[in-house]
Amino acid sequence: MNNTVIPHSRPSLDRNDSDAVSRVIRSGNIAQGKIVAEFEREMATYIGSRGAIATSSGTASLHLALVALEIGHGDHVAIPSFVCTALLNVIRYVGATPILVDINRETYNMDTRHLKKKITRSTKAIILPHLFGLPADIDDVISLGIPVIEDCAQSVGAVYRGKMVGSYGTLSCFSFYATKVFSTGEGGMVTSNSKKLLKKISDLREYDNRKNYITRYNYKMTDIHAALGLSQLKKLKTFLTKRVSIAEIYSSELQGFCKIPSLSYEDRSHIFYRFIIQISGSVSNALRQISQQGVMCARPIYKPIHKYLHFSGFPASELAQKNSLSLPIYPTLSKREICTVLDVLKKYCTTS
Ligand SMILES: Cc1ncc(COP(=O)(O)O)c(C=O)c1O
Repeated sequence: MNNTVIPHSRPSLDRNDSDAVSRVIRSGNIAQGKIVAEFEREMATYIGSRGAIATSSGTASLHLALVALEIGHGDHVAIPSFVCTALLNVIRYVGATPILVDINRETYNMDTRHLKKKITRSTKAIILPHLFGLPADIDDVISLGIPVIEDCAQSVGAVYRGKMVGSYGTLSCFSFYATKVFSTGEGGMVTSNSKKLLKKISDLREYDNRKNYITRYNYKMTDIHAALGLSQLKKLKTFLTKRVSIAEIYSSELQGFCKIPSLSYEDRSHIFYRFIIQISGSVSNALRQISQQGVMCARPIYKPIHKYLHFSGFPASELAQKNSLSLPIYPTLSKREICTVLDVLKKYCTTS
């Protein structure tokens, strides 16, 4: 057993980040203020959307998106089964019904053909995650004529047909959780090209000093978090280059040992938030054996949503749960750590 453990995820923080946060603390303006507004402007510019509203988390962003679209009781919202439960939670928060859709076995993104079969007149929104850093089939989904909420929690910086993900949806949501592509600790953002929806979301995110009463939320981001976000956003290009270069090394080194993801796509870029391999043996066994060698891998999704809800009929999600393993991939992974990950994985794949 090695003494040093290589974690599955790790935030990429440096002195510039801590200086930016310290400056806000020293200023005394630590709630939502000018720095949040600046972070919103920078994000809107980066994504190429008309505007952006910062929130306290990705979940808060998705929740506000559903509220702004006036989704409620009796409405159906389509989501993939192979995704974290944040999506199910927000549908439940507004009292709507989740409609689960299977995924594409190769890309892990929503299977558009299955989606088409699941749509009815009650389907009032589709939450479309770009999972693990790879853009989903956005154009196909938008062409269905139902409001699309892009979930870019794992894919900020990914490009689809020449434009950033997050610039396509009726609304698009981001997460800046500690181990996301870039981070504010906890935090989120909604982008949109609709001024009306952006205004609505801005109104819903805070409750104080309002002339009328509607149910509003306290989903604000603080200037402390936004300062970290701005500092991290400046490094995003470097972060993405690093992720892709690690993916290239993994890809060439693991060829023949296990099934690896495709590196290049004709019309979209993969930012490799996750590097997912497919193995033949048991994932639980693999996780145990690999961790004993000091490398922490993870299930890419803890449990598909149809399993929580005791539904059946999601063969691709089921298979993904059985054979997928997520490897450490993040900008601060050193060359030495990359070599250790590869040695341990190759050993596991040849002996299991
Ligand atoms: C695809 C996806 N959507 C939404 C979320 C929720 O984001 P947050 O943890 O910031 O609430 C996550 C977080 O893991 C996610 O991976």
